[in-house]
Amino acid sequence: MSRVIFIGPPGSGKSSVGKALARELGLTYEDTDASVTSISGRSIAAIFAELGESGFRKLEREVVLAALASNIQVLSLGGGAVLDPDVQAAIKASEGTVIYLTIGLRYALSRIGNKGDRPLVASDPEKQWLKITSSREPIYRSLATIVKSTDNKKPQEVAHEIAQLIGSAHE
Ligand code: S3P
Repeated sequence: MSRVIFIGPPGSGKSSVGKALARELGLTYEDTDASVTSISGRSIAAIFAELGESGFRKLEREVVLAALASNIQVLSLGGGAVLDPDVQAAIKASEGTVIYLTIGLRYALSRIGNKGDRPLVASDPEKQWLKITSSREPIYRSLATIVKSTDNKKPQEVAHEIAQLIGSAHE
């Protein structure tokens, strides 16, 4: 089984579906946002507050490039990680199955909630989410092997559908 990489906007379920897929198939898993948090010892919101978005992107870039160079089998990337050209090149070079998870605004907003742990969409979530999602859409699509909607579905359901798609592609 080659590597599986999850990309997509905030709230699309990259972490929950990635984790569920790794569990279902018995594969190793890394969530790069969780790695940024554990390596820096700070929450994403704290990193944005102290270093700004550019400081966060530098940390994220290092963590994501290291994850892509490792042999972790299932990777969930932060929604904006694909903005970096070197990350885009590394994803293409990794020959993994890249799964772009899509989600409608209504479902995304209910998942994002008001927890304040997503600084880019913390103020005016609806407007900000639409803005970042539509501007990144061409990048997500250009990298994707599979595009999968997670609207109204449980992470385990989406993971199971993906496991079957990947399984049949490898038969
Ligand atoms: C971001 C998405 C977040 C996190 C950071 C920036 C983005 O991850 O990396 O807040 O630029 O879209 P999720 O996609 O898991 O919310």
